[in-house]
Amino acid sequence: MVHTFPGRFNGKVVAITGGASGMGAAMVARYVAEGAKVLVADMCAEDKGQAQAALYPKGSVYFHRVDISDAAQATSVVTETIKQFGDIDIVHNNASAVVWGPVDEMEPSQWDRCFKVGIDAPFYITRAVVPHFKKKKAGSIISTISTAGLTGDKGFACYCAVKAALANLTRAMAGDYAPYGIRVNAVAPGWTDTAMAAALKATPEIREMVASSTPLHRPGTPEELAAVMMFLASEDASFVTGAGKSKSVIHGLIRLGSHPLRNQLNPT
Ligand SMILES: NC(=O)c1ccc[n+]([C@@H]2O[C@H](COP(=O)([O-])OP(=O)(O)OC[C@H]3O[C@@H](n4cnc5c(N)ncnc54)[C@H](O)[C@@H]3O)[C@@H](O)[C@H]2O)c1
Repeated sequence: MVHTFPGRFNGKVVAITGGASGMGAAMVARYVAEGAKVLVADMCAEDKGQAQAALYPKGSVYFHRVDISDAAQATSVVTETIKQFGDIDIVHNNASAVVWGPVDEMEPSQWDRCFKVGIDAPFYITRAVVPHFKKKKAGSIISTISTAGLTGDKGFACYCAVKAALANLTRAMAGDYAPYGIRVNAVAPGWTDTAMAAALKATPEIREMVASSTPLHRPGTPEELAAVMMFLASEDASFVTGAGKSKSVIHGLIRLGSHPLRNQLNPT
């Protein structure tokens, strides 16, 4: 059961990459319920994006079809948000590309794409948004990383490397931008029931592994992950920025659950 906080984001403008499905779509629903206007930046089909926007009151959600592996399109996430809504307060780097397999089985083009979506795009988006946030002396940047980026795992080396890079970029940017009132945080989900997780073709055995390797013995839901992101984006988290200098859960990177394949792939 998810509780919304009506009015928490009144007057706020949010941009979310990968906002058309999974955790991103769950965030869109809550942001609108709590008063924000949202730009969904996603490479899904135009009709899917328009159908999502049509679920919400007119003018509250704008679908911007982009492939953020391209620098200009990534930058346009910020410029289009300002064009549509006149402002920007919160950015979520939520989209990512996954390449399965070890490095020697990976094509350079797959490696490049994973990095372009997962780490270059946050770079271009940050470059574009920070001047606006500096003028406002406020702003929030939140990235979706992964438990796989905190520890590394067998089976998807490139994804692990990208998420680790984004985790450390978060820590570095939190320090750089704190003097300007800009907060930078990341959430590291474990297994969450979305299309991305479904791509693993979860067998009953895999689901059992998720259960046994996760404190609450089940995968997270997109709504539960969105709830943490929303907390970080809100004024409730006004003292939280991801310096990552402490090992406590809240001061720095927030890690949720555990990676489902860890027990299988790293049996020690
Ligand atoms: N689902 C999990 O178990 C899990 C675990 C840890 C971390 N994550 C991370 O959570 C984030 C959200 O994942 P999800 O599970 O909700 O996935 P999802 O597949 O449900 O949604 C991802 C969305 O991103 C969009 N997207 C992908 N590449 C894009 C690009 N180049 N340009 C624009 N849009 C693009 C897709 O079209 C899709 O709508 C990702 O960063 C993922 O790595 C997911």
